[in-house]
Amino acid sequence: MAHLWNVVIVVIVAAIVGRAEAAGGCKSRNFGHGSVVCVCDSSHCDELAPIKPDKPGEALIVTSSKSGARWSMQYTTFSDFSNEITPSGPDLELEINSNEFYQEIIGFGGAFTDAAGLNILSLPDSLQDEVLRAYYSDTGLEYSMGRVPIGGTDFSTRPYTYDDLKPGETDPTLAKFALAPEDLNYKIPLIQRAAKISQKPIKLFGSAWGAPAWMKNNGKIWGKGKLNTSAYSTWANYHVKFLESYAKHNISFWGLTTQNEPTDGLVKNFQFNAVGWSPQDQAEWIGKHLGPALKNHSLSSVKIMIMDDNRLLLPKWVEDVMANKEAQSYVSGVGIHWYLDFVTPALALDLTHERYPDLFMLYTEACTGQWPWQPLKVVLGSWVRAEDYASDIIENLQHWVSGWTDWNLALDVKGGPNWAKNNVDSPIIVNAALPEGSRRIDLRATMLTDSVSLPVYRVAFAQPDNTIVLFIVNRYHSEVQMRIKDKMLGQFDMYVDAHTIMTIAWKN
Ligand SMILES: *[C@@H]1O[C@H](CO)[C@@H](O)[C@H](O)[C@H]1NC(C)=O
Ligand SMILES: *[C@@H]1O[C@H](CO)[C@@H](O)[C@H](O)[C@H]1NC(C)=O
Ligand SMILES: *[C@@H]1O[C@H](CO)[C@@H](O)[C@H](O)[C@H]1NC(C)=O
Repeated sequence: MAHLWNVVIVVIVAAIVGRAEAAGGCKSRNFGHGSVVCVCDSSHCDELAPIKPDKPGEALIVTSSKSGARWSMQYTTFSDFSNEITPSGPDLELEINSNEFYQEIIGFGGAFTDAAGLNILSLPDSLQDEVLRAYYSDTGLEYSMGRVPIGGTDFSTRPYTYDDLKPGETDPTLAKFALAPEDLNYKIPLIQRAAKISQKPIKLFGSAWGAPAWMKNNGKIWGKGKLNTSAYSTWANYHVKFLESYAKHNISFWGLTTQNEPTDGLVKNFQFNAVGWSPQDQAEWIGKHLGPALKNHSLSSVKIMIMDDNRLLLPKWVEDVMANKEAQSYVSGVGIHWYLDFVTPALALDLTHERYPDLFMLYTEACTGQWPWQPLKVVLGSWVRAEDYASDIIENLQHWVSGWTDWNLALDVKGGPNWAKNNVDSPIIVNAALPEGSRRIDLRATMLTDSVSLPVYRVAFAQPDNTIVLFIVNRYHSEVQMRIKDKMLGQFDMYVDAHTIMTIAWKN
């Protein structure tokens, strides 16, 4: 088994496009999929130096690129606006105005699935800590969120819930409710260790996939089926029991989604754990059962997120739930999955925000390699996947989204285990430079080259300490010359290589 340890770690770190060269250097390995990965093994693991510009008037530029740069750092200085810096002029001008604010960041994270737990806990102790540190420490990605499946998901080795009974039996009072060995052996120990490593409390949110077969009208944890209306209050209490059971292990929850992908369970022969809901049924359940049950058990601080499904359903799903007055008062936010972003304009997010400005929008799941036409589930060093993630995150942040949660924290070399053979990849491109409380600021882009519409994604934030951070993904096949303007400080020009992901930070 020994050789497997390194390989599993490679999968994880493939993804962490971001380990400072200064702190020991990327031990790069090329698997022939477009770019390199940084290997973390028992002899070496890189660390990510904090992105902290210190001198006023200076900007710190951190670059990772398809051609192999990994968090290479350089400085540049602002000069005042009257200076003609480059005679030829830039292709793209980005003007940042730090006096105009938009949404606040809630956080970034990944999911503590059974598969992630199995994989991480199969490593030697010291490497287990390296992996958790890579995600949750201040020398890593500084993740601040975690999604916790309530019961099993497809990324478990078996389908299960916390109250599985023999055919014909029911348990309306949940007398037989009990956490599974997966919680006690994988998820809880992992969350407890991540909590120790993290500088700040981790914002955890729970999501149920399947409900006990006896609560459903199809009598199965998976497949096409809804919850019997007679089980609505039991299902709400099931959520309360989950929260209370984790509290016994000193794990408290920041939020809940009302169901992972409620539309899955409406699909004929759906392959894994699911419950089908219409938005109207979900609103009824929230307003009459889940909301009151949480309140009754002093759990009303737990934030309820509706939808937890693809952007394609916006804004209709939210409108349908919020039309229910009882449900409305309990809902704090909207959970969104990224899988159909490529066929849904980001305008859907703007419309949702315009109608419900008090609801936050949080990406609750994303992964690559999930489609049947992607036979390679894990593609080590795939730059396309890195770009897909980074540009999608940036686009969503530009459209009122407050955070992002990746799917499985770690998978094995086949992208599993997954009892339903729904293996995927697990890449991460989250930037440690966006702490909770950072706020998006105004960014105006002007294309100065008329020949092309450049595929350059960008978004800017002010951190709580007033450091300005600008994220850029250049998906163009050649270099782009950019001019960065800060109304308060001046401007500088720079060349951004083809297929490059950049973080630029300066003191305001
Ligand atoms: C839910 O519906 C199914 C199918 O009608 C039924 O077999 C089951 O007993 C019901 N469960 C409860 C708790 O009423
Ligand atoms: C939970 O936290 C309390 C107070 O910090 C501590 O006394 C207790 O031992 C902890 N329990 C567990 C199971 O970790
Ligand atoms: C809340 O508590 C009250 C009083 O104990 C009880 O009558 C009611 O059924 C409870 N509601 C829910 C949804 O748990």
